[in-house]
Amino acid sequence: MTPETVTGAAAMQERASAWREAGRSVGLVPTMGALHAGHAALLDRARGACDVVVLSIFVNPRQFGPGEDLETYPRTLDADRALAAAHGVDLVFAPGEKEVYPEGFQSTVSVGTLTRRLCGLDRPGHFDGVTTVVARLFGLVRPTRAYFGRKDYQQAVVIRRMTEDLALGPEIVVCPTVREADGLALSSRNRYLSPAERERARAVPEALVEGARRFQAGETGAAGVLKGMEGVLARGADRIDYVAACHPDTLEPVSRLVPGTVLLVAAHVGPARLIDNRILGAPTP
Ligand code: PAJ
Repeated sequence: MTPETVTGAAAMQERASAWREAGRSVGLVPTMGALHAGHAALLDRARGACDVVVLSIFVNPRQFGPGEDLETYPRTLDADRALAAAHGVDLVFAPGEKEVYPEGFQSTVSVGTLTRRLCGLDRPGHFDGVTTVVARLFGLVRPTRAYFGRKDYQQAVVIRRMTEDLALGPEIVVCPTVREADGLALSSRNRYLSPAERERARAVPEALVEGARRFQAGETGAAGVLKGMEGVLARGADRIDYVAACHPDTLEPVSRLVPGTVLLVAAHVGPARLIDNRILGAPTP
């Protein structure tokens, strides 16, 4: 059955209040649309754990910097609705900009140091845009649980921090990255890649595999491992934003790799900026 679509903030709040009064648990999956199997996996997780599943679709202008892809970001609402239906979504919240940021809106939610590392350096203001919209969505939907993908590792850490700091309420559930057969993480931005660029994009997951391989083989110095990863990434990427080894919660760079350390990469391939990460497991003895 096609889920109902709500576009108004007030209408969304009314629904949310009714669910709360009826004691129903609500799962929220926030997205910018152009849905793929990665988003679908979040919806399935929510469906398995919550009475009501809400999918939000909003291409949030506040998280795009000048010169980024706000205008060209794919908008595929009809296909998104069909995917929502196939994954048991109860309500699609697809607000217009004025419903999310009404006349007079003045607030920004800003998380500290966590947002000034990694993607925060290359995309100033990006995470303020993300946390502000997610806080507003939490306010409108009042979810019991909210679902995010590990693909956007830093985003998930930042949202978890914000939710805890501001006691916003929802449990934050972070789900594994869904990948193509050759390892490339699914992303709405993969649509920007030509066939030749798509081929080169494999270097992104391959760089992470190289890092994990070296760690498995006993190499624990971050500098050497990161250099090896950069070599692999440079074979396909046009420009590297970062290759990093960080503590999984603080995102501080580490000099020694241990199980649980997260390797993160961001690089440009053609018109797309691609990010990916991998958490190191225990090395083989
Ligand atoms: P968007 O890029 O549409 O992603 C929505 C959610 O899907 C995010 O939590 C993201 O991490 C997750 N996701 C994307 N690709 C994935 C994959 N291959 N495997 C698993 N999960 C994946 O991230 C955003 O939108 C926005 O910043 C948002 C949080 C909606 C705020 O505007």
